Amino acid sequence: MRLLKEKIVSEGKVLSENVLKVDTFLNHQIDPLLMQAIGEEFANRYKDAGITKILTIESSGIAPSMFAGINLGVPVIFARKRKSLTLSGNLYSSKVHSFTKGETNDISVSKDFIGSEDIVLIIDDFLANGQAVLGLLDIVEQANAKTSGVGIVIEKGFQTGGSMVREKGIRVESLAIIKSLADGKVEFVEESPSI
Ligand code: G4P
Repeated sequence: MRLLKEKIVSEGKVLSENVLKVDTFLNHQIDPLLMQAIGEEFANRYKDAGITKILTIESSGIAPSMFAGINLGVPVIFARKRKSLTLSGNLYSSKVHSFTKGETNDISVSKDFIGSEDIVLIIDDFLANGQAVLGLLDIVEQANAKTSGVGIVIEKGFQTGGSMVREKGIRVESLAIIKSLADGKVEFVEESPSI
């Protein structure tokens, strides 16, 4: 997606060979117009997939998911990482280990919001080692629902998450795939010029 890649190049900061900071439009301050365009792009790619629910994980997955939800006309559910005062009992939960942060979170979703009739689109901001997506896939499986695919804003193609999820036969649509962050520069995997 050209607009997103231009934003990454103009505002992203390469912190190391593995980490890209995008706090000006995705992870802290949020650019609503860009999120709107991202939501439209996800909706366009998955418009014929029969999606009934979008599932994401707090916090940075929520903004792009909302706009995709508006465009697909379906509810958005976010998995919680922390215990909530009102979220208790009746939960699907899974463990998500972050290699980046060296911590494991229990993520949970109320059983009220995903059921066996649902066709779920999983959306997240980054795909790195794929642990968050695996946790969300596990929750969809516990609900006996179907996953129609995964939508990612920025995939780090040099890490293992993308291939791990695709090898399971799951469709992954990433709007920008980074080939390398070497020498402080962002290099993208080439796609067709129209997107
Ligand atoms: P994984 O889910 O693909 O295995 O990712 P990993 O454990 O490596 O990453 C943990 C957190 O760090 C996730 O956010 C993920 O989105 C984010 N992350 C991973 N690589 C990058 C990167 O290069 N740049 C940025 N900006 N973030 C990255 P989180 O802890 O869930 O945070 P948030 O959603 O609350 O913002």
